Amino acid sequence: MAETFQQQLEAARQMAEDRLGQFFSGEGLEEAMRYSLLAGGKRLRPILCMKFCEAAGGKPEEALDFGCGVEMLHTYSLIHDDLPCMDNDDLRRGKPTSHKVYGECVATLAGDALQAAAFQTVLFAKGPWRKEGKFAPYLAAGILATAAGHTGMCGGQYRDTVGDGKDHTLEELTAINNAKTGALLRAACIMGVIASSGHRKVDDSCLDAAEAYATYLGHAFQIRDDILDVTSTAEALGKPIGSDEANGKSTYVKLLGVEECEKRVEEYTQKAKDSLQLGKWRGNTSFLVWLADELGKREK
Ligand code: IPE
Ligand code: IPE
Ligand code: MG
Ligand code: MG
Ligand code: MG
Repeated sequence: MAETFQQQLEAARQMAEDRLGQFFSGEGLEEAMRYSLLAGGKRLRPILCMKFCEAAGGKPEEALDFGCGVEMLHTYSLIHDDLPCMDNDDLRRGKPTSHKVYGECVATLAGDALQAAAFQTVLFAKGPWRKEGKFAPYLAAGILATAAGHTGMCGGQYRDTVGDGKDHTLEELTAINNAKTGALLRAACIMGVIASSGHRKVDDSCLDAAEAYATYLGHAFQIRDDILDVTSTAEALGKPIGSDEANGKSTYVKLLGVEECEKRVEEYTQKAKDSLQLGKWRGNTSFLVWLADELGKREK
């Protein structure tokens, strides 16, 4: 019997989980890195990376290390996001945050070291790269660096954090979300397509489609995150609720209210799904259509 989408999701999540478990086994700093990395997030970024690789005609394992690199970088961004100097949150992925367990100094270093490990993992990614594809890891690392830096996640976090207590316009907020959350999702999807190019020629239209899908998905994802910060519970989310309000953060929910936000999530989700049609895919994109819908309704 063909695998259901739910089974495909679980299989990809498990692949990422198993690979991530192989990286840091030491004590001290490595223990702190492992604590946050293996605390059990949704693993959305490695899943997207592998599924875009498959859609472009590759095998999921070809994109596994690229995806794990993005997940390490994402985990570092969460450790730093929770620090007292940023969102000052005590719970992450259902466990006390890194600085609560190890102190601010070690939490900062665990984040820093996960960022370095992310690039190490991408650059030394396993894969019998074909002659024409031997630059795939370099290209992927460059894409990740751009997504992580001042014009991507860090730039978005900067504008998000220095904006605490101020009211952003919808336009400003959309730009912030596109950077702080959209950038890493875009990197994950594009790097998946690039992983497949190590072995076969990939049509540029697939890169464009991956970029557009991730951009719309990123908007839907952050709006849903802002909704859940108001409507969910810490038990369900594995992170505190009410954090945005406590920090005086300007969010979509504050600007538009929950109901209007739900509508925007639906609209962005539809745009993400439609974007897939831009690509000349060798493989199947139906999982990615399903995943966008699932994330639009997610409860955690
Ligand atoms: C949380 O990301 C931070 C945002 C970008 C909103 P996720 O919701 O993907 O967190 P994990 O990885 O599942 O913990
Ligand atoms: C942060 O957004 C996104 C990152 C780049 C880490 P949030 O501050 O809303 O993420 P959560 O709600 O703490 O996961
Ligand atoms: Mg934040
Ligand atoms: Mg936060
Ligand atoms: Mg949030």
